[in-house]
Amino acid sequence: MATIAIDPRVSGTTAEFISQRHKMYIDGRFVAAASGKNFPVFNPATGDVITEVPEAEEEDVNRAVLAARRAFDEGPWPRMSPSERGRMIWKLADLLEQHLEEFAEIESLDNGKPRTIARVADVPLAVDMFRYMAGWATKISGKTLPLSSGYDFHSYTMREPIGVVAQIIPWNFPLLMAAWKLAPAMACGCTIVLKLAEQTPLSGIRLAQLIDEAGFPPGVVNVLTGFGEGAGAPLAAHDLVDKVAFTGSTEVGKLIVKAAAGNLKKVSLELGGKSPAIVFPDAPIEQAVSGTASAIFFNHGQCCCAGSRLYVHEKVFDKVVEGVSKVAADIKLAPGLDPSCQMGPLVSDEQYRKVVGYIESGINEGAKIAAGGPVSGFDRGYFVRPTVLTNTNPRMKVVQEEIFGPVVCAVPFSDQEIDRIVKRANDTVYGLAASVWTQNLSLAHKVARGLRAGTVWVNCHNVFDASLPFGGYKQSGWGREMGEEVLHNYTEVKAVTVAL
Ligand code: NAI
Ligand code: MG
Repeated sequence: MATIAIDPRVSGTTAEFISQRHKMYIDGRFVAAASGKNFPVFNPATGDVITEVPEAEEEDVNRAVLAARRAFDEGPWPRMSPSERGRMIWKLADLLEQHLEEFAEIESLDNGKPRTIARVADVPLAVDMFRYMAGWATKISGKTLPLSSGYDFHSYTMREPIGVVAQIIPWNFPLLMAAWKLAPAMACGCTIVLKLAEQTPLSGIRLAQLIDEAGFPPGVVNVLTGFGEGAGAPLAAHDLVDKVAFTGSTEVGKLIVKAAAGNLKKVSLELGGKSPAIVFPDAPIEQAVSGTASAIFFNHGQCCCAGSRLYVHEKVFDKVVEGVSKVAADIKLAPGLDPSCQMGPLVSDEQYRKVVGYIESGINEGAKIAAGGPVSGFDRGYFVRPTVLTNTNPRMKVVQEEIFGPVVCAVPFSDQEIDRIVKRANDTVYGLAASVWTQNLSLAHKVARGLRAGTVWVNCHNVFDASLPFGGYKQSGWGREMGEEVLHNYTEVKAVTVAL
């Protein structure tokens, strides 16, 4: 193994966990990869290797899918009472909550995000997702239906678990994405093979230990570490998988659809975005400034719903851009575990190069820098300064493409354009989220209605709750996560008709 350097700020418990010989979780056992191969995990604040994890390949995928298949076809999980399932999910939530500090630390070290944020956002939201879905386990039901073809029939529907579910998640909220995926599938009585993101496998491995401790029967949840092509692709294509749920890039989302075609497994996708934040002249300026700044800078802009296009009415454009630029300039960049950290490094070298490349392409195409820029001033780690671009035009790459970093394009609009601003906001292949900033009630609702996006926030952005369905129009995805809506992702509907 390469030299291991764990940040001296991590607690003993976390250091001990990180330096374990990491295993995957298959059929209720912690196992190495069939090939014996491992791959390194990096600390994005330094670029150092902190540990290594097993590299799953096709054989490991087969083992995990067969375990999930057996657990679904023959095991107790889909057959146990919904209340028993709900209690186990609740127990997992309790265990996770008991280890909140440890998970916040792991998440910060592995992903780069501030520990102070992981502790109040990522981990509690994950706990809440398990609790919320524990409650649904007992409330998944069908309907009785009156038939027009006569009164001699009794018809009803039932919602049954869809079967073996493959879940593939990204690195931006490693634990929370695992919770968004696992919790509803568990509540519905499915069995699961979860593939973690190769950049951030650690919190998912720790979560697998808690799943084991909570007492889930073997094979109900299997957790793999590995790369997209080596592990994700064979999982998405597997004939014994009934459904694949994916979160990640739109590009890979399209590959998932192709891979799923072999056995026509069901697919849900949560993909990229280029979400607009629209500020009208009557919006309270301070609230609009701090709200639209956090819309883009939260989680370093590594959010599929980041408010990366900032449309501001010309009357307040200068004030808002100055305000957001000042917020950007004042944000303290530091390693995530540093108590003063307000923004950590990006997750990986690849992401760092991509985001800096976008800032440079914006400059080359004529954009002006109001804050930030391509130079971070750090001699190591994947730090990118929060950046505000003006003077853009709608055809620039920085305006059209998902950057997935702390980079916002600010664009003015005039009185004459108020009616057309919705059209401009919709002028993208994506349709994940949007925010509207105004005190005018009817304008807010009118714009909300016109936006082609799965989420519209009014005078706020990035508000998440386990009860709120989240997902995309257009190329931002298929289906919804969270809320009652997500149950459709993990159930089949059966119509039963009885001749009386
Ligand atoms: P990605 O889409 O390549 O990876 C996401 C997950 O899919 C990972 O677990 C990965 O191992 C897996 N994967 C990759 N190729 C696969 C394949 N052929 N078959 C099955 N699974 C596969 O995202 P990546 O490379 O981490 O980031 C690239 C860009 O994607 C980012 O810069 C960002 O723009 C976007 N992205 C969007 C996310 C979102 O939440 N919508 C999350 C992460 C990235
Ligand atoms: Mg990729």
